Amino acid sequence: MTTVIYPGSFDPVTNGHKDIIDRASRVFDKVIVSVLENPRKAPLFSLEERVEMLRLIARNYQNVEVDSFRGLLIDYARQKNTNIVVKGLRAISDFEFEFQMALINRKLDSRLETMFMMTNSRYSYLSSSIVKEVGLYGGDICELVPREVYHLVMRKIREQAGSAN
Ligand code: PNS
Repeated sequence: MTTVIYPGSFDPVTNGHKDIIDRASRVFDKVIVSVLENPRKAPLFSLEERVEMLRLIARNYQNVEVDSFRGLLIDYARQKNTNIVVKGLRAISDFEFEFQMALINRKLDSRLETMFMMTNSRYSYLSSSIVKEVGLYGGDICELVPREVYHLVMRKIREQAGSAN
């Protein structure tokens, strides 16, 4: 049985992430979508909110589970008894960073393999930052985030926009 980890910040989950979850779930036996708890970043959505949103998506699949982790990805992968990490690649601009991450992870643990899935071209422009930027300035994010989480993303964005006034 092949278990993979799909790690990320997911602040918030976008249709691009959902596309990778969907495709990874068809290729691998089990996909663990895991949210990084990063004390050095100040996300818009709390860890619990990001996990909750991902769970709303994961419930459409029998082989996708949602978790969170802190620290190094290689340690987390060991804990989960897997050596495969799945990442989405949108453009050449992603490549340099992802290449570096894949190599440092393999340097730290030579058994770790990073497998890249090319984004669906429909989502190549999409990122969590874009969703937040469009939403905070009043743009329509309906086609940018999964419908399961749209209301939660909008609620947070309204709260944030309200507190900024
Ligand atoms: O969605 P993101 O922010 O691009 O995800 C980045 C993530 C979480 C995959 C990456 O930052 C990560 O794996 N962090 C854990 C710490 C780690 O293992 N870093 C690599 C060695 S320096």
